[in-house]
Amino acid sequence: MTNNSKRVRKAVLPAAGLGTRFLPATKAQPKEMLSVVDKPLIQYVVEECVASGIDNIIIVTGKGKNAIEDHFDFSPALEDFLEKKGKSDLAKLVHDIGNMVHFSYTRQKEPLGLGHAVLLAKELVGDEPFAVLLGDVIIPGPNPVTRQLMDVYERTGKGVIAVEEVPRERTGLYGIVDVERTSSADSRTMQIRDLVEKPTPAEAPSTLAVTGRYVLPPEIFDCLERTKPGRGGEIQLTDALRLLAQEKGLLAHVYEGKSHDAGDKLGFLKATVEIGLENTEFGSDFREYLRTLKL
Ligand code: UTP
Repeated sequence: MTNNSKRVRKAVLPAAGLGTRFLPATKAQPKEMLSVVDKPLIQYVVEECVASGIDNIIIVTGKGKNAIEDHFDFSPALEDFLEKKGKSDLAKLVHDIGNMVHFSYTRQKEPLGLGHAVLLAKELVGDEPFAVLLGDVIIPGPNPVTRQLMDVYERTGKGVIAVEEVPRERTGLYGIVDVERTSSADSRTMQIRDLVEKPTPAEAPSTLAVTGRYVLPPEIFDCLERTKPGRGGEIQLTDALRLLAQEKGLLAHVYEGKSHDAGDKLGFLKATVEIGLENTEFGSDFREYLRTLKL
């Protein structure tokens, strides 16, 4: 493999799920468009791609998800209106959203699973490595997780998934990796032996949970095509990753940063508070306000 073919240029953002954990908010609007402080979730994810050096984003949408495409489009009428009102800074902010990166869309007609959603991007990705970022997981911070994974891929040529430590009593909520711990210099990166979906604390092979960020070689598409529908008739990405781990090798990388599963109501609230506290405009006022609450 030449160095050039290891370069990761594209990202797939699956955003076609039904968001049932967030009903009724998601009855008529995509959960990826719920706003944390002042930006929809999916914009945080797109900004992570841009900060990582991705130049082509493929979003997998579905029924009722048109607002996502509109959000990343130009909006001449709105920009014109803002300009006329003398709000050029807001007009620029709106315009820049459409200018961030090149977007393509593909549609998942039925929510047949995360693996199925990724497989739908096969033609648009082509024969090159790519990143996958879940549209409802946000990981803010100065060191974008996708960039961390791209660095591992570009160094090793192996697929790599982001993992984080979770308390053992919570393993049943996550995909958990079984890893070979080595004494290599890069102790954050480990070879994956297996992946287990939602194991009980006693059965969990580790406390490292899969976090919703991946950099994968194009061979994952072949693995997905050979993956039979599992639980609920869905094609699980985890099953295809297990095949990839056996056949080509797969790495887990303990990333630097903190994730929020904002597709879950409590996770969304925590993200709102933490990102609100960081806000340069009103973070300190918000902190003052929180201090006044009798908790
Ligand atoms: P989730 O399981 O978090 O999403 O999938 P969901 O199915 O929308 O949510 P709940 O569990 O019903 O509340 C993780 C990611 O995979 C996408 C989702 O949009 C989300 O970003 N996904 C999931 C798809 O694109 N297609 C699917 O068939 C399933």
